[in-house]
Amino acid sequence: MNMFRIRTPEPQDEAALVDLSLHFASESDWASTIPIGQIDTLEKAHQRLFGEQALSVVVAESAQGQLIGYVGIYRSEGNPYASILVHKEYRLRGLGRSLVEQAFEKLPPGLTVEAWVGAFNHLSLAATPRLGFHWDHSIEVDGRTLNVFVRHSD
Ligand SMILES: CC(C)(COP(=O)(O)OP(=O)(O)OC[C@H]1O[C@@H](n2cnc3c(N)ncnc32)[C@H](O)[C@@H]1OP(=O)(O)O)[C@@H](O)C(=O)NCCC(=O)NCCS
Repeated sequence: MNMFRIRTPEPQDEAALVDLSLHFASESDWASTIPIGQIDTLEKAHQRLFGEQALSVVVAESAQGQLIGYVGIYRSEGNPYASILVHKEYRLRGLGRSLVEQAFEKLPPGLTVEAWVGAFNHLSLAATPRLGFHWDHSIEVDGRTLNVFVRHSD
């Protein structure tokens, strides 16, 4: 039985997403340098959950009602891109996969969705190829190597 529920975001998730992001930011010395670790205001959380660029956003809550995961897919100048975060204590239980699958189900077909993963982010480098994305190319941003993975919606 799943100990979590995947659902569309609700207004009270804004404060909870700030908490989730701040918790992630405290996990490692680099976590606060990537966007998922920088959702530190209610305004940023609002944009992530309900902003005009959002194509598909789903969240996960625990049996106790705590926000424990989030995936958002957003429009950008190029391809849309995905952001994903699962609370440290709830990883490796299929939650990331459930979130990604449900977020993709809500997308129109024919989109190429990118996931940008830093070479320093070993968790995501291991997980992203198992979440339906495949490595496409690498880029250098501010002296860091970012791996660009892609997944098509259908
Ligand atoms: C990446 C992340 C979302 C994965 O969430 P999760 O709930 O642990 O993922 P799942 O349990 O659904 O696992 C999905 C697949 O990835 C694999 N995987 C996940 N974490 C892994 C790890 N650390 N090492 C090896 N494989 C891993 C799982 O084994 C599974 O593959 P399988 O079913 O083929 O065996 C989570 O690690 C996380 O929140 N990381 C920090 C945030 C981040 O860096 N986001 C990316 C930048 S936006």
